[in-house]
Amino acid sequence: MNAIHCASPPPAPFSLPPAKGGGIGSQGNRLFVFGVGFVGRYVSNRLLKQGWRVSGTCTCPVRKRELEMMGMHDSFLFDANKNELESLHTLKDATHVLISIPPLSGCLGDPLLTLHHKDLQSTLNHGNVQSLCYLSSTMYFCGAGVYGDCGGAWVDEDSAVNPATETAKARYAAEKGWQQLGCELDVPVNIFRLGGIYGCGRSAINTILQQKSLSIEQKMREMKLYTARVHVADIYQALCASFNLSSSSGRVYNVVDDNPAPREVVFDFARHLIQKRWPEKAIAFRAQDKAEDAEFSQKSRKIEGEKRVSNARIKKELGVRLLYPSYKSGLENILNSMYDNHSQLQ
Ligand SMILES: NC(=O)c1ccc[n+]([C@@H]2O[C@H](COP(=O)([O-])OP(=O)(O)OC[C@H]3O[C@@H](n4cnc5c(N)ncnc54)[C@H](OP(=O)(O)O)[C@@H]3O)[C@@H](O)[C@H]2O)c1
Repeated sequence: MNAIHCASPPPAPFSLPPAKGGGIGSQGNRLFVFGVGFVGRYVSNRLLKQGWRVSGTCTCPVRKRELEMMGMHDSFLFDANKNELESLHTLKDATHVLISIPPLSGCLGDPLLTLHHKDLQSTLNHGNVQSLCYLSSTMYFCGAGVYGDCGGAWVDEDSAVNPATETAKARYAAEKGWQQLGCELDVPVNIFRLGGIYGCGRSAINTILQQKSLSIEQKMREMKLYTARVHVADIYQALCASFNLSSSSGRVYNVVDDNPAPREVVFDFARHLIQKRWPEKAIAFRAQDKAEDAEFSQKSRKIEGEKRVSNARIKKELGVRLLYPSYKSGLENILNSMYDNHSQLQ
């Protein structure tokens, strides 16, 4: 069952800006993705199908080959800590840049900004960039003690930010750094603060089917009352909607679903879905999983500073209508896609 692959979820209903000049030639829309990981790959795949010219970076040859197979026009092996920007020859032509490389905590912070700020400035200054999109995280809204105990109050993009952990500080500094670069270039920068990302191949269903043990960090999150999460298809929707804005000086957007449920509840629902389709597999895993959870919760500390993250702005300003407003519809779609694909292989 571990080898089951997932069919693509339905395409987002957004109409994207037409490629300028009527095609994907030198005048067309060109996306450059720094760090084609889970989100970058999803977005790239869909924009390629819309006729965009897409290029991006990864750090290993196997991933590069996968990107080529997907149809990416130019993929580059690039480690921001080691390599220079000059090898990324399509960057200067990009109309849209998506930054998906996470910052490192500590003095290096965002490696692109720390090590390549000047090169980014000169490369993009003479280019065609219309929009910089930085993928950030809602995580610092829930670091212990950030806001004290707010009893699970809602926070939005205007709420005061006071990141407490080193990771959260690095993330916030990266947001500010990209906004600063946008000012220098006179290019709008949109910051997308993402909840926990899931989709086909990365979800509670996959974790259970692959019988993966949860990391300590995942188990800590499991103890929380509220975890913001978002299906990757809805991240794509928000990005596309921002591309469609005719005039914007750049905004911060929380990209999360409507239902910040506890992780434990989400896993219970995923087990329930699996159990309906593959009873033996789910029951066998449940016993093992529950025993580990019980052991962990005895050792774990209390999680403080819980928050619920509002998505009102993406609905109001970007007109996003979530494809997966709750983990329930998201997981159901993932399981159905797996099942359909599995049946076709039989
Ligand atoms: N996962 C979540 O639930 C979550 C939640 C909120 C926000 N975020 C953030 O949102 C962004 C997108 O998430 P994702 O899940 O799509 O991330 P992902 O799959 O981990 O992709 C990150 C990409 O960054 C690349 N990368 C990492 N360090 C690099 C470096 N030093 N130099 C060059 N490239 C580097 C990775 O390359 P290789 O894989 O080739 O090494 C990968 O392509 C990330 O910044 C992530 O931290 C994630």
